[in-house]
Amino acid sequence: MASSSPCQIFLVFVMVTLVTSLIPSNALLTPHFYDNVCPQALPTIKSVVLHAILREKRIGASLLRLHFHDCFVNGCDGSVLLDDTPNFTGEKTALPNINSIRGFSVVDEIKAAVDKVCKGPVVSCADILATAARDSVAILGGPQFFYNVLLGRRDARTASKAAANANLPSPTFNFSQLISNFKSQGLNVKDLVALSGGHTIGFARCTTFRNRIYNETNIDPIFAASLRKTCPRNGGDNNLTPLDFTPTRVENTYYRDLLYKRGVLHSDQQLFKGQGSESDKLVQLYSKNTFAFASDFKTSLIKMGNIKPLTGRQGEIRLNCRRVR
Ligand code: HEM
Ligand SMILES: *[C@@H]1O[C@H](CO)[C@@H](O)[C@H](O)[C@H]1NC(C)=O
Ligand SMILES: *[C@@H]1O[C@H](CO)[C@@H](O)[C@H](O)[C@H]1NC(C)=O
Ligand SMILES: *[C@@H]1O[C@H](CO)[C@@H](O)[C@H](O)[C@H]1NC(C)=O
Repeated sequence: MASSSPCQIFLVFVMVTLVTSLIPSNALLTPHFYDNVCPQALPTIKSVVLHAILREKRIGASLLRLHFHDCFVNGCDGSVLLDDTPNFTGEKTALPNINSIRGFSVVDEIKAAVDKVCKGPVVSCADILATAARDSVAILGGPQFFYNVLLGRRDARTASKAAANANLPSPTFNFSQLISNFKSQGLNVKDLVALSGGHTIGFARCTTFRNRIYNETNIDPIFAASLRKTCPRNGGDNNLTPLDFTPTRVENTYYRDLLYKRGVLHSDQQLFKGQGSESDKLVQLYSKNTFAFASDFKTSLIKMGNIKPLTGRQGEIRLNCRRVR
């Protein structure tokens, strides 16, 4: 065989470059990730989420929170979904998660449905969480809360209870603690205020707001008195109260509640103190303008969904979201 001419060598180089650039090794997330490999993936997720919400309205809130608790602990990598085993401790028993995060059986249901329609394990559990969160927000908020979710995350083979305890914000945090917690995730004041709008849906347990309703002064006294009825000084730790006045609708009522010192959590009310801070101004804006809230909420959810994803050949696509392969 004749030796290759410079021209042939150059052609091979061009082809190798082309082919390697088509394999997403450290690729960015994209809304089109499943368009060709499994066009039915996203409609299937949406349909399971819709049916789950019709069965139980709260589940949309629970799914949104799972995505948040996934992303804030070493990135959006499905780590929150891993069950403990005799020789593995996951994130489910970390303090902010235990007796608190929920929605795992819906995630299992989604995983079974997408793997069936895609004829194999194509969609990662981390992408299922991001998509189920997006669908929940759009179903409970209406078309203005719909956005194109970015996809292509892969699933972690590890999880960290210690990181979950260290990185998830506590409802006892003051403003500067909230700011630095979000900052360490690459998120700014606007992201903090907009993403806290997640509390426009869902519920909180008595134990997370008891100190606020018995000891704090930055709270509407009539509101505090009414919460004390469901949350006694002693006992009733798991009694639930809605996080805003309309816990099954994504809209800006949460921010209006904050203006009247009716934030449920200490951390919620930290966002509005009526002293003219940047955060105060954002709360006022969102309370008046649903469009501004919707727009910033979607932008910040996309930003949160971009926290340290595994892509390309990193991690794996799980067969069961509760276990590594
Ligand atoms: C800013 C810091 C945050 C703190 C301190 C915080 C804290 C909490 C706490 C204590 C609860 C009640 C949990 C329980 O009672 O078991 C809760 C519920 C919830 N959080 Fe947050 N959260 C924060 C940010 C977020 C973000 C960024 C989102 C999503 C974008 C979010 C979404 C939710 C939802 C939807 C619920 C209700 C869940 C359900 O009803 O199942 N939170 N949060
Ligand atoms: C966990 O322990 C079981 C039983 O001792 C063993 O078969 C399995 O390989 C271990 N798994 C891992 C991930 O170490
Ligand atoms: C917020 O809390 C931290 C930790 O408890 C404390 O050091 C800091 O002084 C507090 N900041 C304000 C403004 O209260
Ligand atoms: C109110 O604050 C005191 C002093 O910090 C504390 O001991 C008590 O447990 C708090 N009460 C409630 C109901 O959280």
